[in-house]
Amino acid sequence: MARKKIALIGAGNIGGELASLVARNELGDVVLFDIPEKEGVAKGKALDLEQNGAILGVDAKITGSSNWADCAGADVVIITAGVPRKPGMSRDDLLSVNLKIIRNVGENLKKHCPDAFVIVVSNPLDVMVYELKRITGFPAKKVVGMAGVLDSARLQLFLAQAVGVSVKDVRALVLGGHGDTMVPILSNTTINGIPVKQLVAADKLNAIIERTRTGGGEIVKLMGTSAFAAPATSAIAMATAYLKDQKRLLACAAYLDGEYGYKDLYMGVPIVIGAGGVEKIVNVELTSEEKAMLDKSAGAVREVLEASRKL
Ligand code: NAI
Ligand code: 2OP
Repeated sequence: MARKKIALIGAGNIGGELASLVARNELGDVVLFDIPEKEGVAKGKALDLEQNGAILGVDAKITGSSNWADCAGADVVIITAGVPRKPGMSRDDLLSVNLKIIRNVGENLKKHCPDAFVIVVSNPLDVMVYELKRITGFPAKKVVGMAGVLDSARLQLFLAQAVGVSVKDVRALVLGGHGDTMVPILSNTTINGIPVKQLVAADKLNAIIERTRTGGGEIVKLMGTSAFAAPATSAIAMATAYLKDQKRLLACAAYLDGEYGYKDLYMGVPIVIGAGGVEKIVNVELTSEEKAMLDKSAGAVREVLEASRKL
């Protein structure tokens, strides 16, 4: 069987990390794509990573390119094209710049990668993934957004640190939009089956929730740009679930057509990813407080979506 082809649109911080992970995990061959002005960067990163592969002993062809034809026939496309946040900026501040970019990417994907499973990472995430689906007309099961895996991982880490246990024993779920209104589902968050509320005091839990909601901004403040290691690993978990038909249940931005009571909206919900793409949207029982928070988060996503329609 021929190797799978993975096109990474955007060869910046996350793009480079994604290429490295694809190669290390031998998921397939990579095209690291960027705009013509950044073609040298894309080609340089590709070459560096191929040489890295020789030391690691992994086989993956990595090509840097600014030519869409090189992405043709990709099985998976991961989009990080766009600008990241600077200190003091919200994800929504990126809307007008990144909207133009995602529209351009969408037009080209329609032409060159019509059968790909597409994972959008660019911010503001929920609106970028909605726009990508709208522009391409790809089926909802083939277009998802990465955010919930990352937000859940942040909650998982902070809880593990608070309780003093391994991250492996924490099961956390964060739903809703990828912004300050995201919703940690504490009713389903456990330390190896033990409800988290039994092990962490309420005030500490509230502080952890707040830190999770602002977890991206905390890193932007420290580094002057946004996180890239954990975002890349999150997107690779999703790509792997598709390529290996793993049927993983992950929190991702999926197209909602009535699920959870929302229509014509992308937002973070638990989904099952397998060879069919988004094979299922899983309906989790929420407390009334959680549902109210999810409604608020959906409202926040819708506001940005409405703004995007005027641009
Ligand atoms: P970066 O600035 O390092 O890389 C972005 C790359 O996109 C640049 O190399 C740029 O030249 C390229 N680009 C711009 N227009 C393009 C086009 N039309 N076609 C192809 N490439 C194009 O940024 P980084 O750190 O990799 O972040 C990328 C995006 O991911 C940002 O929007 C950021 O906010 C977002 N992000 C999302 C997360 C999430 O959880 N969904 C987490 C972290 C970042
Ligand atoms: C993050 O959550 C900024 O969305 C980016 O790290």
